[in-house]
Amino acid sequence: MALINPSILSADFARLAEEAKAVEGADWLHVDVMDNHFVPNLTLGVPVVESLSRATDTPLDLHLMIEDPDRWAPQYIEAGAGSVTFHAEAAAAPVRLAREIRAKGARASMALKPATPIEPYEDLLPELDMLLIMTVEPGFGGQAFLDIMLPKIRRTRELISRHGLELWLQVDGGVSDATIERCAEAGADVFVAGSAVYGADDPAKAVRDLREKAEA
Ligand code: DX5
Ligand code: ZN
Repeated sequence: MALINPSILSADFARLAEEAKAVEGADWLHVDVMDNHFVPNLTLGVPVVESLSRATDTPLDLHLMIEDPDRWAPQYIEAGAGSVTFHAEAAAAPVRLAREIRAKGARASMALKPATPIEPYEDLLPELDMLLIMTVEPGFGGQAFLDIMLPKIRRTRELISRHGLELWLQVDGGVSDATIERCAEAGADVFVAGSAVYGADDPAKAVRDLREKAEA
């Protein structure tokens, strides 16, 4: 199984509804929320997510690059998110937060920046439906894929298997037809792609091509 989640960050923000429709057939729509504090960039908030969830049937995969996700995550679920990812570096109480996200009916997910190791979080994995390993420093689309994250993806996949868990392993940042096979081989099964999808002439075809490569 390979899930392809196009990142709306690389779309035209003045035409979000059409841009969401342009990738129907994708598994989830990845929505990057940035607050200009946790990362040096600013994108969108709850009202835009609310409108976007009405504009598409594709479920929304929220990636919260914000301070205080403990306070904000529930509002994004009410706005229509089907999956909410908070950053380990930003959450005050990750276990409580993951349980709250699940209790509100969304999938709970935690992200790790490139310099954050997985090992301290091993015991927390059963609380999660997905783990996101960043393959660039969060904040911007179009950055080069960090190869040095491949061993971390591999180690995380081993931990997931060792504990007999079902959780998805997502990669985000620099995922393209040139890097997706290496991510899949290392054990990732959910692939976020921004510029590789929205920078293509035919975004829907780019999604299909990426899925094919990941499943090869
Ligand atoms: C970066 C965001 C990514 C971004 C990926 O901080 O989390 O989701 O949109 O963009 P690409 O695929 O262009 O690296
Ligand atoms: Zn993201």
